[in-house]
Amino acid sequence: MNRENPKKFRVKSFGCQMNVYDGDRMTEMLTDQGMTSADDGEEADLVVLNTCHIREKAAEKVYSDIGRLRGKDGKSPLIAVAGCVAQAEGKEISRRAPSVDIVVGPQAYHRLPELLEKAKSGKKALDTDMPIQSKFDVLPTRKKQARPNAFLTVQEGCDKFCTYCVVPYTRGAEISRPWSDLIDEAKALVDGGSKEITLLGQNVNAWSSEDDKGRRQGLDGLIRALDKVDGLGRIRYTTSHPNDMTQELIDAHGDVPKLMPYLHLPVQSGSDPILKAMNRSHTTESYLDILRRIREVRPDIAISGDFIVGFPGETDEDFEKTLAVVSEANYAQAYSFKYSPRPGTPAATMESQIAPEIMNERLQRLQALLNEQQHEFNRQAVGRTTTILLERNGKLDGQLVGKTPWLQSVHIIAPGLAIGDLVEVEIETAGPNSLQGRMIRSEAA
Ligand code: 5AD
Ligand code: SF4
Repeated sequence: MNRENPKKFRVKSFGCQMNVYDGDRMTEMLTDQGMTSADDGEEADLVVLNTCHIREKAAEKVYSDIGRLRGKDGKSPLIAVAGCVAQAEGKEISRRAPSVDIVVGPQAYHRLPELLEKAKSGKKALDTDMPIQSKFDVLPTRKKQARPNAFLTVQEGCDKFCTYCVVPYTRGAEISRPWSDLIDEAKALVDGGSKEITLLGQNVNAWSSEDDKGRRQGLDGLIRALDKVDGLGRIRYTTSHPNDMTQELIDAHGDVPKLMPYLHLPVQSGSDPILKAMNRSHTTESYLDILRRIREVRPDIAISGDFIVGFPGETDEDFEKTLAVVSEANYAQAYSFKYSPRPGTPAATMESQIAPEIMNERLQRLQALLNEQQHEFNRQAVGRTTTILLERNGKLDGQLVGKTPWLQSVHIIAPGLAIGDLVEVEIETAGPNSLQGRMIRSEAA
């Protein structure tokens, strides 16, 4: 391990896709500095843990990961803690884990090279600023990506202040990146071989900017412009807030060919009093109305969501209402979590916190229903012919795994095909989590 002159690095990202994007950009920046990414199993001189603070379990994971980085000789590589835990805990991290050399927040990671210089000379380096000059202005241009499905952060931060959530504190206020920067970054990704771009933001559908002709555009306008980029095959976006789901964006799902039929739209709870206590500022009815309108223009759309069970004060009746909304919404896929009190958020000090046994039982019931819906959604694909984008190798010889437009994983045996190919397949069988298919034709061939 070479701490004085690090050559090999590893970036490990946890949590949301925005962290994956930040991890990609840190990788590009360190590569630009002449370092190389360590292969699997290879020792790294610098490890960046790009952390998540959304739930307690995710945040605690950092400290066990730091402990595990110590080698047999008791020495650690240079360790940088980045991401939302870095932002939330700052100096406290090096106090609790003295082997940490660098602490860098999500809005300051473009300064990683300077922080690294300081750490190399044995000093602790900390930067959790939220500078006025955006990191996006100084990061190197995008390179060829390891995956054919690239991420592109278009919007960051959140002004919604849901009472359970740390994001407004760790990621800061909502900002939208400028139109031309995004078009340029998308084109650079496509030139590097990316076939699919997922537009990212904590509130991606709140994105807004003037275009190159000075007209105000919303996310639908950006999607329509990207639809015209040659070589780009698929467009996705996540995560959306119900209140920013404009009719224009809904309509885009009906008539933009490259926009995939998938919408991740968290509702969190099916009970209006709980939504109010969460400060969600939408109701179950306004949420279900969006789903009805989007299904009008795109009947096959896959709907996905996020749920929190056991928010303070949640009664059995409130929880039953969540199950009722799930039944009505009919999800293709969803994420559900037990409420986790986060320090500094209003809900953490609310009365009537829910007992862990009750949360466990509710989570099990909710997940059973969501899993059944997901399995049923997958079963409906059997016999259908569709196109998948090959994203990774499977476990078997000659097996590849790709994604349908509805974001289902499909395993196929297709010797001779490569990651990044678009392939027409017939779906043969469906499990709860993935599909099996048979290749009909490769568009790339
Ligand atoms: N406890 C449990 N789940 C949470 N989420 C956000 N904050 C919390 C919390 N304190 C969930 C929400 C959000 C997703 C990213 O994580 O469902 O949509
Ligand atoms: Fe957190 Fe709510 Fe903002 Fe989503 S909308 S990031 S849940 S505060």
